[in-house]
Parts: sequence; structure tokens; C-alpha cells
Amino acid sequence: MVQLINAVTPIADARAILADTYDLTFTKAVEKETAPIFNQVKSKIAEVEWPFFAPLILQINRLKKEKDAVILAHNYQTPQIYHGIADVVGDSLQLAIEATKVSQSTIVQCGVHFMAETSKLLNPEKTVLIPDSRAGCSLASSITAEDVLAMRAQYPSAPVVTYVNTSAAVKALTDVCCTSSNALDIVNGVEGDTVIMIPDQYLAQNTAKKTKKKIITWAGACEVHETFTAADIAELRAAYPNAKIIAHPECPPDVIDAVDYAGSTAGMINWVKTEKPPKVVMVTECSMSDNVASETTGVEFLRGCNICPHMKRINLENVLWSLHTGTEEVTVPEEIIAPARASVERMIEMSRKGD
Ligand code: 13P
Ligand code: SF4
Repeated sequence: MVQLINAVTPIADARAILADTYDLTFTKAVEKETAPIFNQVKSKIAEVEWPFFAPLILQINRLKKEKDAVILAHNYQTPQIYHGIADVVGDSLQLAIEATKVSQSTIVQCGVHFMAETSKLLNPEKTVLIPDSRAGCSLASSITAEDVLAMRAQYPSAPVVTYVNTSAAVKALTDVCCTSSNALDIVNGVEGDTVIMIPDQYLAQNTAKKTKKKIITWAGACEVHETFTAADIAELRAAYPNAKIIAHPECPPDVIDAVDYAGSTAGMINWVKTEKPPKVVMVTECSMSDNVASETTGVEFLRGCNICPHMKRINLENVLWSLHTGTEEVTVPEEIIAPARASVERMIEMSRKGD
């Protein structure tokens, strides 16, 4: 059996295993070759940490070419992944669309399991790897295929719009998927006055405020965003009176009502880059503002974030190990691939029409 390096492997042990095959010393040559990347992230990664990251970044970037692999990374990945090794970065919708375009034979997903499954659905012939398959999501684990069948039985004429933060088995029982960037367009675009929108109760409630349709939802929530409260936003406003505050629509509606802008992770990034507020608080996962701060000048990023423990299961050590060993491979049962893929493709199709 292939030895596993994952987020619970102590970093020293992981490095010792990797050092059998890969030179992880921080030489002058490594320092020089990685200098452009360090320049980009130096406001967010301490100089003392770079000797640990730089050799891994170089080895990953070499190995991904050798193995004909592409790295897709979500906006919540750490700066060393986002700026150091990713070929494509984005929100869930962008990653799903990009996954349909890649030419490489292997996809390494730096993100959570449902994202890797989506890549597999759209590329069943390719090898899709996730460096730690336990990178889950509280929304994806909140609902099962049986739950969807029960809802369908209760509301037989209502179409089912399912957030991509779900398992492939749930997507397979869905009419069309959505992400936080296209939720309103998808709900408005499906037939009927009543829509089942699962599993995020807050995304559903936030969407319900903008549509005439009746929305029936599920009791799921994102463990990172559900903890933000309107009182937190009031505190942030008092602490940073001149800052703009923006949030992800997985936050409860009273939080969304209190902020200056709400949108998907890509929506928030675009908003900051377009509006260029002198100060901003991104009420979402912490790595996001680090990643945007590393590529945006003239904006001060203030803290008001939570960490997603699932996203943080992915690190440079387990990405290198994943490429080295071809583990952990993401598979989807044959009978689920076609219907789940159809729900994702319908979403991509409907999003294009809305462009
Ligand atoms: P985005 O689609 O906005 O990237 O959101 C994904 C996610 O998991 C947010 O918590
Ligand atoms: Fe899931 Fe929330 Fe983590 Fe996004 S931030 S992956 S919704 S738990």
C-alpha cells in the first residue's frame, strides 16, 4: 500500500519521506529561481518560512510538467499554493469551466473533495487527484441522495437546484447545479414558481430575497460562514469606520444585509480590484484576502475572516506526494457520472446564456 502523506502527517515526517526522492534544500539556485514568486507573496509569507516552501514549489512545478498534470486551485488555498504552484485559480464556477478546457491527462485539485469530483465528472477519462481526500465540506456532508429523493417526493413538481458544494450522488438527482456566482440566474432560469434549492439554507434565503419564486430549502450551512453575525459586522464597522466590508452569500441574510457587497469568491475579488477601496474587510475564508492582497496595490486588507479546516488540509507536502504517487485518485461510480455531469453541464450552459 502506498504510504499516505496528508494533513495529519506531521510536516517533519512528510518532509523526511519526500526528502528520500526530492532535494528539499534551500540553495542559492532555488532562492534565485523562486525569487519572482517570493516577491509576489512576501507581504503574506514571512522570509523565515520561504526556505521551507521554495524547494517544494520548484519540485512540484517540475514534476507537474513531467507527469502531464495541471493544478486547479480554489481561491481559499494558501498563498504558497495559489501563487506558487497553481495553473488555474478561481471560484467554484470558474474551476468547473476551466476543468472542461484543460489538455493535460492529470488534474490535481487543490480544494475540497466536491470540487475534485466535479472535475472528474467533467473529465471522466482523465486522472483526477486530490492530495487529501478528507478535505470535505459541511455543506456537502449535510445532505444525502436519500434526502433529495424524499424532497422530490414531497414537492414532485418543483425543479431541484443544487449548490455544487454537494456529492456527485446528490448532483445526480438534481435538475441543475448552481454556484454562489450564478444562483439567482439559475433559479430564475428554471421552470415553475416553486424551486427546491439545496443544501445551503443561507444561500437559498439570500437568493429568495431577489427572486419572485418560492424557494424550499434544506438545513445545511457552511461552517465557516454561518458563524458570522450582524453584530460582528457592526463591530467591524466600529473598529474600521472607513473600510468597506464584503461577504460571501453563504453568510446569514442579516450579515449580507449589513455589508457593502456580497458575492462569490471571484465576485469579491473582482469587486475589490474594480472598486479599489482604500480599506476592505473580506468576511470569508482567511486565505482569500491574503491571495488578493498579494496581487493588488493601493488597498489595505483588514482581518475579519475564518479558516476553512477542509481547504487547509491541502499543503505543498501532500501536493508533491500526490503527484509523486498518483494518489489519492478521485473516482465516481459509473452510473452516477452521466446524470451528475448533466446537472453541472446544464449549469455551465445556463451561465453562458446569462453572460
Ligand atoms: P465560491 O463558488 O464562491 O468559490 O464558493 C465556494 C465555497 O466553498 C465557499 O465557501
Ligand atoms: Fe465548505 Fe464552507 Fe469550507 Fe467552502 S468554506 S469548502 S462551503 S466548509
